[in-house]
Amino acid sequence: MPPTPLTQQLTQRIQQHGPITYAEWMAAALYHPQHGYYRRGQPTVGPQGDFLTSPEVHPVFGAAVARLAQTVSESLGHPDPFRIVEVGPGSGALAESLLTALEAQLHTPISLTLVEADHAAAQTQRRRLANRRSPIEWRSDIADAPADAHLVLANELLDAQPVHRLRFEHDAWTELLVGCAPNGAFHDCPAPLANPALTAPLQHLDPQDHQIVEISPARADLVAALANLLTDGLLLLFDYGYPRRELYDPRRRNGTLMTFRNHTPGENPYAHPGEHDITCHIDLDQVREAATAAGLTWLPPSSQSAWLDAQRRALLASIADPPTRLAARRALEALCDPEGLGRITVITASRGELCGSRAEPRGPLGELPGLTAPQS
Ligand SMILES: C[S@@+](CC[C@H](N)C(=O)[O-])C[C@H]1O[C@@H](n2cnc3c(N)ncnc32)[C@H](O)[C@@H]1O
Repeated sequence: MPPTPLTQQLTQRIQQHGPITYAEWMAAALYHPQHGYYRRGQPTVGPQGDFLTSPEVHPVFGAAVARLAQTVSESLGHPDPFRIVEVGPGSGALAESLLTALEAQLHTPISLTLVEADHAAAQTQRRRLANRRSPIEWRSDIADAPADAHLVLANELLDAQPVHRLRFEHDAWTELLVGCAPNGAFHDCPAPLANPALTAPLQHLDPQDHQIVEISPARADLVAALANLLTDGLLLLFDYGYPRRELYDPRRRNGTLMTFRNHTPGENPYAHPGEHDITCHIDLDQVREAATAAGLTWLPPSSQSAWLDAQRRALLASIADPPTRLAARRALEALCDPEGLGRITVITASRGELCGSRAEPRGPLGELPGLTAPQS
């Protein structure tokens, strides 16, 4: 494959100024204003894109989110309007299916803000969501979104944030910077840690020699920004991840970084920048720490398969047409696949009036669909 404009820019930068962090390299590969993977104005998710996300599988995913939104609205006394913010809405599939289901079941007005930095993606979403009953507005940055939401949601947003790569060598962590060979090939360039704070999540772990981990301070900042959009209400995130001990277990000695192109996964972190998606599993403890530091009440996470399984019957019962119900049943199987989308974690944290928790099933969040505490 011939070098892309982004490859040339990154090569020049490294050759002139020396190696850069992988977080810088990944930020350019995904979010360079013209050539970044998410800024090229081309489909990224769904059959025309490079990978499949839950909202792309079937509208039943949005219907499940709508059941949860309905409960949040109820427990807040049905605010008028019920304000939703979705960050990183992709093709607009979740916004569409969520609005369709929620408009049918909620008798109070809904307002939706979509935070989308890519102009072409925002245009696609506008076309898809034209003529909706509920008002929809677009913002290009979270900082410009209204900070009075009742539901803030994002699907696979945190796993698309830039990460630093660290390797354990001779009893110490080194950072894997990105170097560039004279022939233009990018390569790992181990260097002493310039920012020792990166190892804070790695305390009390027992790494193996040569183990690689990914650390993303950007994720904590993003969780804080999402939390700050909520007045009273719920933060709802869907992402691949593990608790810290599991994520950084020596069994994952090469880390969890993956690339996707044409629905084919790859493990080369330096695959043509701007032409592949790059994703990395998230540290659920980091998300909990950032959410609670921002004043949210953390609710126990669930797997997507358990969350959807718990409401499968209710979701299917609401579909009258048999062929449509069969399609939704099949889609739920894909969404619950324990080897695939079912592994995603459903992350919830609340602010204000919604202070119940699964541990306290009497609280309003005790009744959140799919997240209800098991009755003993
Ligand atoms: C893996 S895609 C998921 C898209 C969509 N949510 C879905 O499930 O199909 C991640 C999306 O998050 C967006 N994104 C990443 N960081 C963002 C940020 N700080 N603000 C807004 N969007 C962001 C990317 O541009 C990309 O569209």
